[in-house]
Amino acid sequence: MSKGISIGIIGGTGCMGQWFRDFFSDAGHTVHISGRKTELTPADIARECDIVILSLPLDVAIAVSEEIGPLLGDAQLLMDFCSLKEKILKSMTGSTSAEVIGTHPLFGPFTDSIKGQNIILCPGRGEQWLKWLENEYISKGAFVTVMDPSVHDRHMAIVQGLTHFLTICMGRTLQKMNMNDNTALSCSTPVFKINYDLIGRLFAQDIGLYQNIISKNIHFSDVLDLFLSVVDEGRDSLLSGQDEKGLLFLESVRDFFKDSCRESLKESNKFINALYGEQ
Ligand SMILES: NC(=O)c1ccc[n+]([C@@H]2O[C@H](COP(=O)([O-])OP(=O)(O)OC[C@H]3O[C@@H](n4cnc5c(N)ncnc54)[C@H](OP(=O)(O)O)[C@@H]3O)[C@@H](O)[C@H]2O)c1
Repeated sequence: MSKGISIGIIGGTGCMGQWFRDFFSDAGHTVHISGRKTELTPADIARECDIVILSLPLDVAIAVSEEIGPLLGDAQLLMDFCSLKEKILKSMTGSTSAEVIGTHPLFGPFTDSIKGQNIILCPGRGEQWLKWLENEYISKGAFVTVMDPSVHDRHMAIVQGLTHFLTICMGRTLQKMNMNDNTALSCSTPVFKINYDLIGRLFAQDIGLYQNIISKNIHFSDVLDLFLSVVDEGRDSLLSGQDEKGLLFLESVRDFFKDSCRESLKESNKFINALYGEQ
């Protein structure tokens, strides 16, 4: 399979769709896009393109895959960008005889380049396009990991679900304490400033996306139960009034991370310095 492949992005009018339209166009491929208001329809894309990408919210991607899957032939590829993989893989493989790959770019549309970014591929059917796609990403400097969709979703319950949940709850806490912008900024340490900006970053984007990432991940409630038990453990140790007990708790967590702590300190110093260097 050579250059000059035609790629159709259904949902190509959205943020990720536009990002990948530019990415694949820059790589020399012909890219067509459709949205709800474009003349080109999902069915046109399914009939005309070698690769059909669903860049849509999860529920819509499932519905569109059922609709256009039967229009694709064995030589084509159907893929998606959804942030959860089990359900969409099931839907794509069930609706078409084409090759199928679930794809999760682990970055957002504000990323300048794919270089250094992680992409997870969940193979659904076929080998030909899988090799091609891996090469497209790796040759531009991305890190590609091939993974089972349910393993992917379990990891995402932590990587995205818990991370965003904590950011939302931190925001809620500041709201309840009526900590406004001025107070937050005049009292902020570098670490708090980063957390504060991450709250703003989340709420500046599509909140429906975050709602989906948390509520549609079937593994998230287990992660949350575990997290809440750890909150109790942390409270019992750190607020016990016994320094020794608190330190033991901290030491036991540190033991788990001991090999990576120094590297993490170096990495976080880089972005803290970059934050203040830009002012
Ligand atoms: N944003 C991220 O950081 C990110 C990162 C990784 C993966 N993803 C995944 O990428 C996918 C797209 O996300 P996005 O951020 O690009 O979303 P987006 O900017 O909201 O774009 C959504 C696209 O879907 C179309 N669409 C929405 N509702 C539709 C409906 N009911 N029927 C038909 N088309 C509909 C929109 O078309 P119109 O132009 O007609 O509105 C638009 O083209 C999602 O599955 C998301 O989980 C997002």
